[in-house]
Amino acid sequence: MKAKRGFTPDIAIVCAVCLLPALWLLWRFFNNDLGVNPVETVVRQLGVWGLRLLVLGLALTPLARIFRQGRFIRWRRPIGLFAFGYVSLHLLSYVVIDQYFDWGQIWADILKRPYITFGMIAFALLIPLAATSFNAAIKRLGGVVWRNLHRLIYVIVPLGALHYFLLVKADKTLPLVYAAIIGLLLGWRVWEWIRRRA
Ligand code: HEM
Repeated sequence: MKAKRGFTPDIAIVCAVCLLPALWLLWRFFNNDLGVNPVETVVRQLGVWGLRLLVLGLALTPLARIFRQGRFIRWRRPIGLFAFGYVSLHLLSYVVIDQYFDWGQIWADILKRPYITFGMIAFALLIPLAATSFNAAIKRLGGVVWRNLHRLIYVIVPLGALHYFLLVKADKTLPLVYAAIIGLLLGWRVWEWIRRRA
């Protein structure tokens, strides 16, 4: 049977679901419902949805194996691109509404605040992945190079979680939950790799 390709109905649903947090945030904005610190709410919500989608993207391969759902593999690309979208808006909101384009202050933050440094590294590493998420790029790079490049995600997601862990000052439970899930997902891959070699 020929594998399904392109913008199939399940991909359309995945995209619609990924758009919901952004629409919810817009709804809250227009209804003056962003809390006492709207800037912080926007920056944090965009960041947390970026991280959630990155982790979900990482979970799709094991979930596809466990539930024998090949379609989950095809969902990785739209979910990865939405994650990049949310993280880009997260960075943009920090630059525009938090720092008012104060490049000196932003540069000082990158150098002085480790959580910003790691967030920035994670974002910079995401750019080549997003830029090569299209069929033409896969063809041009070749499958092996493309696959190796996209293994950067195994560094990016932990960096995103580290960024989160470092910025939370009081209760670190939630960042630790993310770290544990990411650890499990990466551990599963290492286990798979060892099993296949054996
Ligand atoms: C892959 C990249 C990134 C991910 C996954 C990510 C994720 C997150 C998460 C989960 C939060 C906390 C949300 C919460 O408290 O509910 C956060 C907050 C934040 N992030 Fe990021 N982020 C990334 C990159 C960046 C970059 C590049 C910058 C800026 C240069 C940045 C600046 C911030 C700031 C300023 C906060 C809020 C800190 C505060 O309110 O105290 N992040 N981010």
